[in-house]
Amino acid sequence: MFTVFLCVVVFILWSWLKPRHGSPPLIPGYLPLIGNSHQLIGDRKYLWKRSQKTGVICREMGGVAAFLVGSYSYYVISDPDDCLMVSNTCLDKPYAYNFSKRLMGNGLITSEASLWKIHRKLLNPAFSQQMLTAFLHEINIQARSLVSQLSSKVGEEPFDVRPHFVKFTLSTVSRTSLGLSAEDQTIINNEYAETVEELFAVFCSRFQKVWLHLTWFYNMSDLKQKEDQLLKTLREIMDYVINKRKTELKVKEESEITYDPNSGKFKPALDHLLNLAEEQDAFTDDEIREHLDTIVAASYDTTSSALTYTLILLGSHLEVQQRIVDELQEVLKNRDVDVSKDDLPKLVYLEAVIKESLRLYSVVPFIARKIDTHVKLKNYTLQPGTTCMILMHSIHRDTKLWGADADLFKPERWLDPETLPTHPNSFVPFGFGKRHCIGKLYTMFVMKTALAHILQRFSVSGNIDNVVTEYDIVLKPVLGHHITLSSRI
Ligand code: HEM
Repeated sequence: MFTVFLCVVVFILWSWLKPRHGSPPLIPGYLPLIGNSHQLIGDRKYLWKRSQKTGVICREMGGVAAFLVGSYSYYVISDPDDCLMVSNTCLDKPYAYNFSKRLMGNGLITSEASLWKIHRKLLNPAFSQQMLTAFLHEINIQARSLVSQLSSKVGEEPFDVRPHFVKFTLSTVSRTSLGLSAEDQTIINNEYAETVEELFAVFCSRFQKVWLHLTWFYNMSDLKQKEDQLLKTLREIMDYVINKRKTELKVKEESEITYDPNSGKFKPALDHLLNLAEEQDAFTDDEIREHLDTIVAASYDTTSSALTYTLILLGSHLEVQQRIVDELQEVLKNRDVDVSKDDLPKLVYLEAVIKESLRLYSVVPFIARKIDTHVKLKNYTLQPGTTCMILMHSIHRDTKLWGADADLFKPERWLDPETLPTHPNSFVPFGFGKRHCIGKLYTMFVMKTALAHILQRFSVSGNIDNVVTEYDIVLKPVLGHHITLSSRI
């Protein structure tokens, strides 16, 4: 009897999982019933290497676990046209994003497309060029504070610069998005950051243990208990921040809170959200918290990792570092002043270096979409009810797009349009299509300003060839990433 039952189950699963007409080929290593799930388990350094090697388009079978959560297979794509088609046709995120939904809720990254469309329109002005220009004075203040912390490392042993960048990006985003005062800064820098890092590790562990994709199993696990604890801590911190700001806005004069780029006064994203909630009933209190958690979580980890890779690359290419120093001298004329909105576009070579670093070390190596309709690509048709992984990292290292030297660090390629790929979606560190990163311009402002301050004061040395990375939602350097600093002054 049991054998007959098993045969029926196997037959149903086989007919569900078998390749459809026009579907891409399967990723090698597929096993009956469990698909490629076993390849997810293990070292996240290995996982990353595997995703680097993945071909242009293939299909990864999630096996029984994926079948039970309603997504019978994964597609993995890295053709820029196909990627754009998928990102703009399917705006919803797949179930794996739900792992972080208890933190980010209806924030932009995890919200359903219908609500996302409304909220994205409301939030766009908080990240406009005008608002960001108003943040510049504050970004400069935080960059100076970073430089002063780094001074203690001059002439010392090789050290990990990432924690310094984490502190810097958190301070910057806490001021510009949460409107936090210096006294409250330490809670975000210490407790919040540590808790978010632990929570991201929980999401990654769950993703790798496919049986924990099932809510029923997950709810019984120790990991879930840990997640509850971490979420409680984060919720308490963010509620405190929001309530404090609400009270401040009530008691402060209008002139104290409206922004004025010339005096360095700006309107934090939290004020923008609170105003919209008050005037248009646009957000609930929970949604405000979820948007802020999303902004903080999405910004500091990505930007600090991107800054770390850039500095190690510069420490490994001293001629490139010298060229930036020359450019800084030409534009800033050795003045110990803020990097201004007029200086930023003149730092052309620095921008080329940042782009080249984001290309080679895509800190968000891939994104995913829930396929909810038939999506016709160049050579295949994706089936509804599946998940599609979009590999930005593979696009960035594709020799067909970037030439035989795609793996080399060559900032000069950005200075001449002739040496860049003609395809408009060859450089996509901030994602594809309509749901691309809202903080793209903000990141460029922050990275340029921080690097300008650092490189005027220090000369950096490191070795990118020794760096080992690990996928932790964001791609992080975990070994061989230490640098040394010496003074330029
Ligand atoms: C090097 C820095 C950064 C990188 C590489 C990066 C990358 C990305 C990518 C790839 C996405 C698309 C996610 C998806 O489609 O699932 C995204 C979305 C997003 N990012 Fe960033 N990001 C960076 C910095 C920031 C910063 C500084 C902020 C906030 C100030 C931010 C806020 C967001 C938000 C809110 C979304 C969701 C956008 C939406 O769906 O409308 N990011 N980011």
